[in-house]
Amino acid sequence: MRLTDMACPRGLTLSFLLASLALPHHGLAYKPLSDNFLKQVPSVSDAELDPTTGELLMPFLQPRAPGSEGHADIQDHLVQHFAANLPEWTMEWQNSTTYTQDPKDKKKKFVAHHRSNLVFRREPPWTRQGQANLLTLAAHYATPSVGVPAEYLGATDAAVSCALLLHVARSLDRFAAQMYKEMQELGEGGTVPMDMGLQIVFIDGAGPAVASKGNKDVDVSGSEGLAAAWEKITNPALPASLYGYPNRLNQISLLLLLDLLGGAEPRVPSRYQTTHWAYQAMARVEQRLGGLGLLTSKGASTGSTNPGAGGFLPDHSTPVHQLDLASGWATDRDDHLPFMRRGVSVLPVVPDALPENVGTLKDDGQHVDKATVKDWSRILVGFALEWLDMMEVEPQAPAVRRRRRRTPTAMMAAAMSGEE
Ligand SMILES: *[C@@H]1O[C@H](CO)[C@@H](O)[C@H](O)[C@H]1NC(C)=O
Repeated sequence: MRLTDMACPRGLTLSFLLASLALPHHGLAYKPLSDNFLKQVPSVSDAELDPTTGELLMPFLQPRAPGSEGHADIQDHLVQHFAANLPEWTMEWQNSTTYTQDPKDKKKKFVAHHRSNLVFRREPPWTRQGQANLLTLAAHYATPSVGVPAEYLGATDAAVSCALLLHVARSLDRFAAQMYKEMQELGEGGTVPMDMGLQIVFIDGAGPAVASKGNKDVDVSGSEGLAAAWEKITNPALPASLYGYPNRLNQISLLLLLDLLGGAEPRVPSRYQTTHWAYQAMARVEQRLGGLGLLTSKGASTGSTNPGAGGFLPDHSTPVHQLDLASGWATDRDDHLPFMRRGVSVLPVVPDALPENVGTLKDDGQHVDKATVKDWSRILVGFALEWLDMMEVEPQAPAVRRRRRRTPTAMMAAAMSGEE
């Protein structure tokens, strides 16, 4: 599935394609994590989610409409956070200006909207520009300029999603570092499943929440500017022996758009046939985490695989042809659309129903359902680890490690004392 779901890389010959398709799909990439690995998938902590002191969520909880002080403050925070904690990541601004006309203005003056998207990337160190395929996670960091109270904090819109992006980045970084190092030592790389990286995008503009309040003016200006720019930025041609992607958009293997997360008992439907298999893979991670007792919120999976068993991802057992493609109001309005229109595979992690407090002053840190956010943090990291084929760098459980290091004498002594 993987190859066919991605934009066809330039230079991929037909014979190579046919040879790849003959391989079992698991050999290509997506390998489930072991139970041992799932148990070690890190979660965000209650302390980090504290609205006044928590270092992960608190910095986002301020009014941050484009052009405001809070908006600039969050940009600084993101740049400094990555520089200080994730120095191997590249940082890139993508700025754009779009113009709209206010219908109420008699002179029909154009109003300029400056948007600054922030992009952080962790690519395999051996890849050249245009060679890596990137699992891409995105969320919008601004709050609306109109339609909400001036002091609006937008916890579910989308501060919590931004905090989750930071958690995914830091959690994956450690494993990516180890995996890239081992692969480099073995001289690996140069194929689609090996040249996988991670890309985290903080989108400017306020997303769709204003639209929910009866205003049809959906602000996807940030993602529109980004998708349009990436379509135009062509990668340099690579030698014929290497495959490569024609532009930055083609390098996105899958776009996970996070939005409106942080409320209790979310239900995220599967919205698109082309990414239903990825949705189901994520749902399987949720079920397995639930089965291991690692999910604690009320709405999360308990591990049951029965159709109708619920969980955050209730379409886990829905056959692809039975998807209700019209379901969910976010289907036709959110930041994934400018990418989808340009042919990118997208999986919106956006609940079906709006969180209770969105658009109001009650959408603050106090009203975030911490248990739900912690469950999301495990599900998203688990999925990303599987996507990037991180079973190769599975951390050993302490018990296993101990047993391996035992000397023959120690083992004999243990056997004699009746220990396992
Ligand atoms: C993009 O905008 C940000 C913030 O508005 C600014 O700090 C940055 O220098 C700009 N970058 C470019 C390349 O224009």
